[in-house]
Amino acid sequence: MSESATVSPSVYSKDRPYPAVLIENRLLTKPGSAKETRHLVLNLGEGGPGYEAGDSIGVFPLNRPAEVAEILQRLGATGAESVSLPRVAAPVDFREALTSKLALAGPTRAVLEKFAAKAADPEEQGRLAALSAPGAREAANAFLAERGFVDLLAEFPSVRFTPQEFVDMMRRLMPRLYSIASSPRVFPGEVHLTIVITRYRTNGRDRVGVCSTFLADRVPLREGHVPIFVSHSHFRLPPDGTRDCIMVGPGTGIAPFRAFVQDRAASGATGRNWVFFGDQRRATDFLYEEEWQQYLADGQLVRLDTAFSRDQAHKVYVQDRMRENAAALWSWLEGGAHFYVCGDAKRMAKDVDAALHELVAAQGGLTPEQAASYVKQLKKDKRYQRDVY
Ligand SMILES: Cc1cc2nc3c(=O)[nH]c(=O)nc-3n(C[C@H](O)[C@H](O)[C@H](O)COP(=O)(O)OP(=O)(O)OC[C@H]3O[C@@H](n4cnc5c(N)ncnc54)[C@H](O)[C@@H]3O)c2cc1C
Ligand SMILES: NC(=O)c1ccc[n+]([C@@H]2O[C@H](COP(=O)([O-])OP(=O)(O)OC[C@H]3O[C@@H](n4cnc5c(N)ncnc54)[C@H](OP(=O)(O)O)[C@@H]3O)[C@@H](O)[C@H]2O)c1
Repeated sequence: MSESATVSPSVYSKDRPYPAVLIENRLLTKPGSAKETRHLVLNLGEGGPGYEAGDSIGVFPLNRPAEVAEILQRLGATGAESVSLPRVAAPVDFREALTSKLALAGPTRAVLEKFAAKAADPEEQGRLAALSAPGAREAANAFLAERGFVDLLAEFPSVRFTPQEFVDMMRRLMPRLYSIASSPRVFPGEVHLTIVITRYRTNGRDRVGVCSTFLADRVPLREGHVPIFVSHSHFRLPPDGTRDCIMVGPGTGIAPFRAFVQDRAASGATGRNWVFFGDQRRATDFLYEEEWQQYLADGQLVRLDTAFSRDQAHKVYVQDRMRENAAALWSWLEGGAHFYVCGDAKRMAKDVDAALHELVAAQGGLTPEQAASYVKQLKKDKRYQRDVY
């Protein structure tokens, strides 16, 4: 394996984000897909932060101007009012605070209580008091799950806050993390991302994910800046390029494995690469299909097993493909392969972990306890790594 890519010492950090430029914004899913998954490319220029395959980047988004404008209008504010925020040295304009500093989603029950205290209309006051009552916790949570600050202002128009009172109820707008889908050896000065754009409708309003739509809809191509930082990870390729890699990445979980395969091809790593990919439908959701086919043709990928969950009556998932290929997978593991999982933490990563345990027990002729300690040892040796969210 050739010399590893160096990470340049950087003056940029989470507290001092780098202004990257969006240079590509392309749909990966095809017409008819239930999802909108995009390939986005950020240019870091020559002096930007360095990264390695396996790292993620943090993006500081801006909220939607229309939502900010509606909040200002409903509060009777101009946006030019000055407000103070915790951990922000100087006062900022109210509009600026709502645009870049504060989360417009996620009001809490404490916020409902503040609304109840401010309601001038008795009917609104009654509804808010009922939701704020000690026994109404579940009802209040269900009510809040479908509402942001703008909904509360729309539903309780008699409630008025000063700009400072309003910002005092809000939480900070947090950066979002994204797995980097490119290797710096192949795309120096660039960061590629694979992002599902969040759009849905609740309580009669179209909702959007703040950061995914900031990147997909609101950042102009080649103009304007996206404040980013690199989040250095422990998710790493084997230092020994002769080791085999098994990569399980359904949906956007495929992102770091695009980086890994690029990196291994560029570094001349001789270990074999095996990718498990899954998504809803082959015809519309096979992310980076042409690239995988090319890697297969070139021998840089020796196996690609896909699980398209909605192409048949029953669900087929990546762990089903692992089970079907249990003997080969076991032989790769016994040969020293590294096993990686990326993507959904709630269900997929747990189910893949269970499938790995079952497979090790069955193929190795081990008891469940022995299989658990085999997998534990894989983790200890950094041969079983996960990047799940
Ligand atoms: C280490 C790490 C790596 C990641 N890598 C990637 C990646 O490579 N690609 C990627 O796409 N994402 C990735 N993510 C997730 C990413 O950070 C964001 O969480 C995601 O893009 C959503 O952010 P957003 O600002 O667009 O949405 P937000 O504004 O945060 O909104 C999302 C919220 O909206 C609500 N919501 C969403 N859909 C619905 C619905 N149908 N009904 C009701 N409510 C709903 C949920 O409360 C959800 O939490 C990663 C996360 C981590 C921690
Ligand atoms: N709002 C939306 O409409 C919407 C749509 C998609 C994703 N999302 C969210 O966006 C995030 C990222 O989505 P994504 O595109 O990266 O992929 P994803 O939703 O994780 O789906 C990728 C593939 O994994 C499958 N899957 C579901 N449960 C699984 C399990 N237990 N084990 C193994 N595979 C499983 C899915 O099948 P099935 O989906 O067919 O079960 C799909 O084929 C997720 O957190 C998801 O909740 C939202």
